[in-house]
Amino acid sequence: SEFDLIVRGGTIATASDVFLADLGILDGRIVQIGENLTGAGRIIDASGKYVLPGGIDSHVHVAQPSGEGIVMADSFESGTLSALFGGNTTVMPFCLQEKGRPLREALTAYHALAQGNCYIDVSFHLIVSDASDALIGQELPALAADGYASFKVFMTYEDLRLSDADILKTLDVARETGATVMVHCENEDAIRFLIGRHERAGEVSPRAHASTRPVAVEREATHRALSLAEIVDVPIVIVHVSNGEAMEEIARARARGVKVIGETCPQYLMLTADDLDGMDWEGAKFVCSPPPRDKAAQEECWRGIETGVFDLFSSDHCPFRYADEQGKRNPRGLKSFRHIPNGIPGVETRLPILFSEGVMKGRIDLPRFVALAATNHAKTYGLYPQKGTIAIGSDADIAIWDPSESRTIRHVDLHDAADYSPYEGIAVTGWPTTVILGGRIMVDEGKLVGEKGAGAYRPAKPRQSRHNTNTMEI
Ligand code: URP
Ligand code: ZN
Ligand code: ZN
Ligand code: ZN
Repeated sequence: SEFDLIVRGGTIATASDVFLADLGILDGRIVQIGENLTGAGRIIDASGKYVLPGGIDSHVHVAQPSGEGIVMADSFESGTLSALFGGNTTVMPFCLQEKGRPLREALTAYHALAQGNCYIDVSFHLIVSDASDALIGQELPALAADGYASFKVFMTYEDLRLSDADILKTLDVARETGATVMVHCENEDAIRFLIGRHERAGEVSPRAHASTRPVAVEREATHRALSLAEIVDVPIVIVHVSNGEAMEEIARARARGVKVIGETCPQYLMLTADDLDGMDWEGAKFVCSPPPRDKAAQEECWRGIETGVFDLFSSDHCPFRYADEQGKRNPRGLKSFRHIPNGIPGVETRLPILFSEGVMKGRIDLPRFVALAATNHAKTYGLYPQKGTIAIGSDADIAIWDPSESRTIRHVDLHDAADYSPYEGIAVTGWPTTVILGGRIMVDEGKLVGEKGAGAYRPAKPRQSRHNTNTMEI
């Protein structure tokens, strides 16, 4: 027959259009978009459903070493399975450089962990933890040309933070190579000062995690990162933005002509610092950085999603088990919030939350949802138009959403390897019930039918070598 698969009668949405059509899929790609398509080995009836590009979550952590004895809950297998059930067909995890070691070495290890174990496609960001001359001068330029075209730098965490000098060097390599730099903006010296003050006062419960990382810590670092990018004259991504004051820094920098992409995450729409209170260390379930703020900040982040301060909506999935044999996300049994590993799970719930709270509640329309869920991630990180849209020639990565499917989020129904969801008990309307990866049906009406190993590594293109970047050119 003419096609391997036809998706028939659905409402298709891209980042710019919504229309009724059939999709014809052959050899893993979309080859026809039209009416009354026939001639396929398999036909999916999508009437009454939304047919959207598969989600791209460009900010997830799996199998990342996290310091003394702390193990991330998800492997590539469980992390990509969870992402798949949440309507995603590509994730972008981080490859962490070990201090004093070449990044290639870490990449070899991550590729070995991923190989044959992924349910969806994978592309990597590189975390620069040691801006040595060899890394800046030779390794990063070679890696950028080789499919690793985004670098994350940290302004916080004692073992990861870079000096402003090293951030400038990394930004400069990005300018030369067309790579994209993501920045974690929090002022480490200010945090350490506040941690000292809290510990001396005996304030050591999980709530103090939020108190020692106040808005000013993030706002100052955001301003500084944007200024450094302005000085180097290179685009920059500000990741996991939690509040309106950091958003104002982004808007102001944009007005000065800085090319900046903003990212926010479900935790900043759905959680507050009050969630870090709670009996018996329960607040540890919500420890992430920057911390969730307050109701007003949630509304500001929604405004940023609506107005375009944010182009990216990512999970920052960073799963640790809450209860293990050592107990309560405090693996060394130490009695202070500062030993709680930072990060929370959310790769499976990211899109259902944005769909339900955003589209169903009328805050954003379907094209904006698609942009935030998939298209802008592909454009920002060099995977477009192979990924992130429904177009002739693009990979047949498709999520079919049932807008009438109502669920209450329960961790027992999710597929990650953490032991809780920070969104337990939240009711959502709309769920991706069928997911197709490169023309292969992976989830069929809620049932896993695809196999581990179906997902492949996808190299990313640096900015200079991109052609069809369309409207969101950075
Ligand atoms: O707390 C967080 N966000 N953990 C994940 C690592 C990061 O900084 O993105
Ligand atoms: Zn970060
Ligand atoms: Zn305090
Ligand atoms: Zn992260």
